[in-house]
Amino acid sequence: MRFAGSVGSFLLASVFLALPLAQSASAQPSAPTVAQTPPMGWNSWNYFAEKVTDKDIRSAADELVATGMKDAGYIYVNIDDTWEAERDSSGVLHTNSKFPDMKALADYVHSKGLKIGIYSGPGPKTCGGYVATLGHDEQDAKMYADWGIDYLKYDLCSFIPAVMEKQAPHDMAAQMRLMEAAYVKMGKALKAAGRPIVFSLCQYGWDAPWEWAPALGGNLWRTTGDIDPTWDRIYTILSQQEGLEKYAGPGHWNDPDMLEVGNGKLTLAENRTHFSMWAMLAAPLLAGNDLPHMKPEIKAVLTNRDVIAIDQDALGKQGSRVYSDGEVDVWSRHLSGGAMAVAVLNANDNGRFASHPFHLSLARLGLHGPQQGKDLWTGKGIQLTDHMPIELASHDILLVRIDQPR
Ligand code: GLA
Repeated sequence: MRFAGSVGSFLLASVFLALPLAQSASAQPSAPTVAQTPPMGWNSWNYFAEKVTDKDIRSAADELVATGMKDAGYIYVNIDDTWEAERDSSGVLHTNSKFPDMKALADYVHSKGLKIGIYSGPGPKTCGGYVATLGHDEQDAKMYADWGIDYLKYDLCSFIPAVMEKQAPHDMAAQMRLMEAAYVKMGKALKAAGRPIVFSLCQYGWDAPWEWAPALGGNLWRTTGDIDPTWDRIYTILSQQEGLEKYAGPGHWNDPDMLEVGNGKLTLAENRTHFSMWAMLAAPLLAGNDLPHMKPEIKAVLTNRDVIAIDQDALGKQGSRVYSDGEVDVWSRHLSGGAMAVAVLNANDNGRFASHPFHLSLARLGLHGPQQGKDLWTGKGIQLTDHMPIELASHDILLVRIDQPR
């Protein structure tokens, strides 16, 4: 994250840089065929990291089916970093011994009615130090298509020192142009490969990718640095999504990073809130937990159909924070058919709200009079009334769907 502090100073450059891409996109509108709703699935990184093997991917596919997660919408089984070996003299990138036969693995995942994803980056090396794509965009994209790959996460990493800093030392605007060009190149290579492949940009939100990634065929783009399974990190990332809601829509989504539900020492309330808020954000729902050993309460969080329906709502409108009162945040999301989701989140670390008792303001949500809704975590009906007191435990959430808001 060496550039993180300087991102603001790139703002002007990013507006300038975004123009040609945005214009070419409007001249040639090409409807994305994938990711019409935020992609759902599972990715190996958050739990297995560099230890992932072919066997883990197969068992993740098996578990998605056995647990009912597939039926709930989790379709992509994504291999993250560390599958790569070396390139041969023809430039063909080989898999390492953890992944003896990628085509056979893709066939296996497809045989379960699932889709498969893979990982690389524009630099010489991946973040984990394995061989990446530099100079082989078309060759790699073609190979992915031949294998039957359905999703590519493309991670900046070593492109920063190896290309950006080397070719344009001390010139941030030029470095950002190099970065964007690298993503344009892979976007074209994927299109030329002729298979619908979800294109996931992983460059930590540098240079406002929400401005330029959709035009080059990006279906999602990371908005921040990496997530980890702690409340502080999850809440920080959540807070950093404000203002990005206007950039999300069918085919192109903000990506606040993969789910940590079921990982680390997150409490049940924290898992629930993390999942609820990623749904409010219309975020990709890529589980990252140990599926074969998933606890029932974690499965219940990940397969809550009502919450998934918020995430996958066909309108594709990302939610936004409406107001905060002390440490209570109130978010809303507009849904298809005129429906609305309201989330009330207690961010206080010590039990009850700092501003206890909290009273909900319907007026600030643009609502008038009592509202009939469904509490998506109890599954029961709930009436929201103006100034009603709401008590939540530390880091817990009230998530309500109102089908006919007034
Ligand atoms: C970066 C990405 C992570 C993961 C690792 C793999 O840190 O942001 O999501 O893909 O690389 O090395």
